[in-house]
Amino acid sequence: MERLQKVIAQSGYCSRRKAEELISMGKVKVNGELVTELGTKVNYTDTIVVNGKTLNQKEEKIYYLLNKPRGVITSAKDEKGRKTVLDLIPDDKRVYPVGRLDYDTTGVLLLTNDGELTNLLIHPSNHVEKTYIAKVKGLVMKQDIEKLCKGIIIDGKRTSKAKAKVKKKDKKANTTLIQLTIYEGRNHQVKKMFEAVGYEVLKLKRERFSFLTTTGLKSGEYRLLSVKEVKTLYSEVQK
Ligand code: URA
Repeated sequence: MERLQKVIAQSGYCSRRKAEELISMGKVKVNGELVTELGTKVNYTDTIVVNGKTLNQKEEKIYYLLNKPRGVITSAKDEKGRKTVLDLIPDDKRVYPVGRLDYDTTGVLLLTNDGELTNLLIHPSNHVEKTYIAKVKGLVMKQDIEKLCKGIIIDGKRTSKAKAKVKKKDKKANTTLIQLTIYEGRNHQVKKMFEAVGYEVLKLKRERFSFLTTTGLKSGEYRLLSVKEVKTLYSEVQK
């Protein structure tokens, strides 16, 4: 909910001060009712008419970067009542996750009410870079790394070129830590890519989405993106 004068100003009809004047003068109706009180709260689904003109409401855009913890789902609702990523951020504006991370995947997740940017970021033709750190079972062989990089068939379709680098091999625990950078966002893509070369993913973290990382954010914490970061994201996908 926002103050009526703010919503009128954001629609581009007039300044906030002018909106206050118009409200006091009895020129504003909300859902057909005359409203003269300045602090009145409205939301973006209310119909606001000023001087007989229905406003075209623009919701203020908001962008969160969340360091997603394990054990929360990336969707607005869950039938099983599990915690969702929306439970971790303020709920005064309706936002949606940009793409998905699995229940047990951690790391960078953007949430926004900017549908245009969301569509651009998740569109495969924009090749947004996503870097993951995967802990997999087994000691990954060089030829398998090469296969991951060149592209392998998952769900009947070849993955596009990727970058993969072994960060650590733990012979005792029989695990390998691998950094994998992909430019698509298919369903469970990283797990399926490793599965296709014979390894199970034990742990998965997205450490980078485009240029954004979780630096400074503990698990479960979020921050707002700056105007500059939003502009950079737009420029990344409009090249
Ligand atoms: N790939 C996966 O398999 N899972 C994720 O959560 C993200 C990418």
